[in-house]
Amino acid sequence: MIPLMAMTFLISCGGGDTASKEKKPVEPTPAAEAPKDPAYEAGLALVAKNDCLTCHKVDEKLVGPSYREVAEKYAGATPEKITEVAGKIIKGGSGVWGTVMMTPHASLSQEDAETMVKYILALKK
Ligand code: HEC
Repeated sequence: MIPLMAMTFLISCGGGDTASKEKKPVEPTPAAEAPKDPAYEAGLALVAKNDCLTCHKVDEKLVGPSYREVAEKYAGATPEKITEVAGKIIKGGSGVWGTVMMTPHASLSQEDAETMVKYILALKK
């Protein structure tokens, strides 16, 4: 499953020669067009290092909601909300987006989880 998804990323990000407006060539990351944010690079690295991308993609619903949808939903989130959503990643849970469970990530620190939430929220268009 993971190698297949990696291929999908390569295919979907590979041939982007038409739409590059002002910035560098498309990077092989799920969110090359996202705005720069201090937490962005760190959050992206953490998301890539953990199992998040087996259930989430930036633009498409997979097992969980797309990160873009999450970013829209929590646009303008207060620090308290970021803390809460980060806690959800650590504890796991369901009910906000449907009945499917997000698995707990008990080994993550609250700080790392918040960094990932900030990265996800920076994906808002
Ligand atoms: C086993 C699949 C799975 C994995 C792995 C997973 N998620 Fe999720 N995620 C989900 C599902 C399903 C939901 C929707 C939960 C709900 O409806 O409340 C979700 C929801 C979320 C939300 C929104 C939470 C909310 O309350 O609105 C965020 C943010 C998130 N995931 C981030 C992550 C991050 C970061 C990781 C990696 C550390 C990760 N997810 C790993 C399945 C997963």
